Amino acid sequence: MLLGAVLGLHISGLPYLHTLAVLLLGALALLTRYVSLAVLALPLGLAILTVVLPVEAWARFAAWGLLAVALWRHKENIARMLEGIEPRLGEPPPLPSRKQVVCAFMIHPLTVEDFFQSPRFRWARSLITRGIVPRAWVERLSELFRPMKVGELRGVRTVDGREIRCYLISAPLLPHQITSKPELATLRAIQGARLARELGCTVVGLGAFWSVVGEKGRLVQEAVPEIEVTNGGAYTAGTVKAAIPGILAHFESSGRSLREATAAVVGANGVVAFGIARQIAPLVGRLILVGRNLERLEKSAATLRQNLERKGQPVPDIVTTLEIAAIREADLIFSATSDPRPVIFPEHVKPGAWIYDEGVPPDVDESVKKLPGVRVIPGGVVRPPGNMTGNLDLHFGEGAVPACLAETMILAAEGAYERKSLGGETKSENIQFFVERAEALGFRVVD
Ligand SMILES: NC(=O)c1ccc[n+]([C@@H]2O[C@H](COP(=O)([O-])OP(=O)(O)OC[C@H]3O[C@@H](n4cnc5c(N)ncnc54)[C@H](OP(=O)(O)O)[C@@H]3O)[C@@H](O)[C@H]2O)c1
Repeated sequence: MLLGAVLGLHISGLPYLHTLAVLLLGALALLTRYVSLAVLALPLGLAILTVVLPVEAWARFAAWGLLAVALWRHKENIARMLEGIEPRLGEPPPLPSRKQVVCAFMIHPLTVEDFFQSPRFRWARSLITRGIVPRAWVERLSELFRPMKVGELRGVRTVDGREIRCYLISAPLLPHQITSKPELATLRAIQGARLARELGCTVVGLGAFWSVVGEKGRLVQEAVPEIEVTNGGAYTAGTVKAAIPGILAHFESSGRSLREATAAVVGANGVVAFGIARQIAPLVGRLILVGRNLERLEKSAATLRQNLERKGQPVPDIVTTLEIAAIREADLIFSATSDPRPVIFPEHVKPGAWIYDEGVPPDVDESVKKLPGVRVIPGGVVRPPGNMTGNLDLHFGEGAVPACLAETMILAAEGAYERKSLGGETKSENIQFFVERAEALGFRVVD
């Protein structure tokens, strides 16, 4: 680039002294230790010189063309500089090494507001709030964006002294867009996995609604075999499994009997929710399974009964329903649906009920938290070891991440790629593996 700039100046008939201006700009940029800025300073200096000095029109045109190409090539670096996540000269290269684990996690905005968390899009917020650009346009425009690196989690340090860096890659699709346009969503997840590979990551995790696209990650893995893909299902199941005994014990310690209690599981045909139903079924008196397909709910109920009878465990009275209002009878509610909107509202909840919400975005509407005596416990929240910092709000509280992101980090740190979660099945030995390795590396479930 430098040689090109100097040669360009010479060909356009400028004395060599003028190249100093270009070099000076380059040196200034280098002082910031951003290589991209230094590279961009050179064609910028050249372009400015062609304006202030008498040069032929073709030379001016060529200089500005060179600047345009350079800006386009460095657009991602410019955005990362704005976000403060572009590596500087002298910093260790952000690649996997003995001391450093590098992985990526795909995220998406939960609301239109989330679009503007990233500094590269923050300037556009006022266009929406002032009504200059309609929200519907933003959604339509977002479907054109390829995945990009929008953030980074740093400072996670395992008990054995390694640092885990996790790049956050986003394609700005909202939950309802991911569910209603599965082909586009799968394409974006595949592009995200390719980007993660280009960034040097060994593992990419599919977060929130990305975890259900492409047959729960299977098609993404097939399309990009050069990187390990996980939907995070095993450790999510592990955190649920670990949290439930505590919740049930707390419930009993408040003077209520589990054997006489009614529990409800919402989204009961799903992987996470059915796992919960299996775990709590032998412990409660009555179990209400809520879903969107009655035939499959009946099958799930039959499987539960058979399993309990085979093991000689108590069989509760199991009710299946499509009506969410049925959970009003429940003392304990467990929810893990794939619905992009809240499904549980105050009128569905009995006063004093406890709700364990594993949904991302949450299944429980904010207004439920104001009900007297009702306790809403967010599920699948994990605190990684070290002092994690990041530039985005992931909606899991400061210093905390979802279990599926933790699984991505653990998989990359352990290199046990055969344990990755793909498709709808979760092996119990993999659940056990993540629970044990998480504990050993210093990850803690938030309860
Ligand atoms: N915290 C974490 O780390 C983490 C990790 C993974 C997943 N999750 C979250 O856990 C939830 C479930 O994940 P999953 O992998 O189990 O998904 P899943 O297998 O697709 O199951 C979701 C279930 O929810 C049902 N459902 C959707 N809308 C519903 C509604 N309005 N009422 C009742 N049921 C409804 C679906 O019904 P159909 O069968 O008819 O489609 C499906 O059976 C998601 O919100 C996901 O983001 C959290």
